[in-house]
Amino acid sequence: MKAIIGIINVSDRASQGIYEDIPGKAVVATLKEYLISDWEYQYAVIPDEQKKIEEQLIQMADEQKCCLIITTGGTGPAIRDVTPEATEAVCQKMMPGFGELMRMESLKFVPTAILSRQTAGIRNETLIINLPGKPKAIRECLDAVFPAVPYCIDLIKGPFLETNENVIKAFRPKNK
Ligand code: MTE
Repeated sequence: MKAIIGIINVSDRASQGIYEDIPGKAVVATLKEYLISDWEYQYAVIPDEQKKIEEQLIQMADEQKCCLIITTGGTGPAIRDVTPEATEAVCQKMMPGFGELMRMESLKFVPTAILSRQTAGIRNETLIINLPGKPKAIRECLDAVFPAVPYCIDLIKGPFLETNENVIKAFRPKNK
């Protein structure tokens, strides 16, 4: 089964073409380094509007059958930051460990790491992970949590993701 991964840059300014879509491209570049199994991606740049974010997440999860969706941006305290709310609204199950670990690791780089409300959750057979919008945050956060992502996707009956162990080592507990 070929993995389909959704990437959504949530940003008012990037969606209007005022900013270049750097975080979205950084996610693609990072995944290209990480993954050696077959995958393709679906891509969207949308404004910070909860309804639009929810619709995009649902489309990628339910119609495009993404096993993983990574969002960037909209996780902070500003009024228009609503990506975590949209994520929670479409998920049946939240995975708070992702946000906890990403904030803990990010704190090694910036004291403002605690301003991100980034989270993760499961919608049916899709894992959704929020990242902050700063391009350098992409790698800082993904390096922290990605070792657990392939096993999480195994558990929700997704495709088998294989990583380049020289770049990132996936951890799969041995069968009992
Ligand atoms: N995490 C990492 N790893 N690196 C960063 O530079 N920036 C922080 C935080 N998390 C940052 C980070 C800042 S300044 C903010 S305001 C929040 O993420 C929210 O960012 P967002 O609204 O773009 O999602």
